[in-house]
Amino acid sequence: MLENNKVATADLVIGDKKFSYPIYEGTEKERALDIRKLRAETGLITYDPGFVNTGSCESAITFLDGEQGILRYRGYDILDLAENCEFIEVAYLLIQGRLPTKAERQRYARLLNQHSMLHEDMQGFFRNYPEGAHPMAIASAMVVSLSSFYPEIADREEEKSLAATRLISKIRTMAAFSYKKSVGEPFVYPSSKLTYCENLLNMVFASPVADYKLDPVLVKAMNQLLILHADHEQNASTSVVRMVGSTGANLYASISAGISALSGPLHGGANQEVMEMLEEIRAHGGDVDKMVERAKDPNDSFRLFGFGHRVYKSYDPRAKIAKKVCTGVLEKLGINDPLLDIAMKLEERALNDEYFIKRKLYPNVDFYTGITYRAMGFPTNMFTMLFAIGRLPGWIAQWYEMHNDPNQKIGRPRQAYCGPTQLRYVPIEQRT
Ligand code: CMC
Repeated sequence: MLENNKVATADLVIGDKKFSYPIYEGTEKERALDIRKLRAETGLITYDPGFVNTGSCESAITFLDGEQGILRYRGYDILDLAENCEFIEVAYLLIQGRLPTKAERQRYARLLNQHSMLHEDMQGFFRNYPEGAHPMAIASAMVVSLSSFYPEIADREEEKSLAATRLISKIRTMAAFSYKKSVGEPFVYPSSKLTYCENLLNMVFASPVADYKLDPVLVKAMNQLLILHADHEQNASTSVVRMVGSTGANLYASISAGISALSGPLHGGANQEVMEMLEEIRAHGGDVDKMVERAKDPNDSFRLFGFGHRVYKSYDPRAKIAKKVCTGVLEKLGINDPLLDIAMKLEERALNDEYFIKRKLYPNVDFYTGITYRAMGFPTNMFTMLFAIGRLPGWIAQWYEMHNDPNQKIGRPRQAYCGPTQLRYVPIEQRT
């Protein structure tokens, strides 16, 4: 517990009164000032838009050092995991707190296969979405609907764990079916003969008339990309999952809200925006300068997508791995994608620009992933869905952790009210 490691005290002086607050230190030396008694003792609240300085919880899941570009899940370096693990091992690690043994991994893979089908009645949902419906919109609606198809989730640990397994397995089927719906092809069912990522690729790319030949290089790349996305401590969507969960809402409702939060272009939706931005540069003759100038213009709301991060002030370690995966996949497939050249040119241009240097803006995880997904055959509107599939175990692990935290309370920030003070009601006839 964080509270057991008090390392100092901070004094706050207001007028002639002094208030003392404890400072705690986490295992990686991050220090946190405990202001839980602040309002009760002083009447003050903290003002921190975007929660830039606010620690909303203590967590033992993911460590991230934005200055040094370090990311670890449960203590393991992201590079180690991406190179050596399958995605489901990382999902197990995040949720159970340790890597599975061989037998546990086999059992988990079997369980995921057992729960991979969607209730037949859920398939009717897909029929009624309009053509071009975004897979993220479909997924968030379908995930929240799971609670009506599988209503048994209650407070019992084993039922929560069943709900988590169902979600991790079924989200892939939902993603693949929403793709099939968008291209007007029949659904391809999951197969218990395939692994998690094989199933995902097969359900998306096979058809009743043509088998999909699984390429181990692409399966490995899929595993790696999902691992890169699997958790990222208290980002916007994870905070939403915790916030919704803190009200007592069930796991499905909480995850559905997380999917909605992830869809935004400043968050997971950035991978789709990156691809559209690169396409636009290509359509205009490959001139990256114009895009960089637009991103720097204070009068233009445009931002260079796939660049910048709230926490990383150095190269995002996930982006490094994603770039390597991208070049590896393109090389293996013998694809010479002009968008990769544009992306590399754009990166080089931005990294040498005073504006980006001063603000410590580097490529983030979304910068290179889209080019890989495209090489695999995914359409652009599936990119954020793939991010969501990857992030799901992290959301679930954070949701469990929150529920097991004795300090957890319903999430309810305060505000500094700046509207009108009390007004007298004016009848409509007298209003001017
Ligand atoms: N292009 C141009 N300028 C930028 C960018 C960018 N991509 N990102 C930040 N800045 C500027 C920003 O205008 C501000 O400048 P100034 O100090 O002159 O006002 C300064 O850098 C600090 O930016 P901020 O908005 O205060 O930073 P933030 O921590 O609130 O925002 C961010 C983080 C990721 C939302 C932002 O960098 C951004 O909008 N990036 C583009 C969208 C993107 O790629 N998102 C994916 C994030 S990684 C995947 C994920 O986890 O979701």
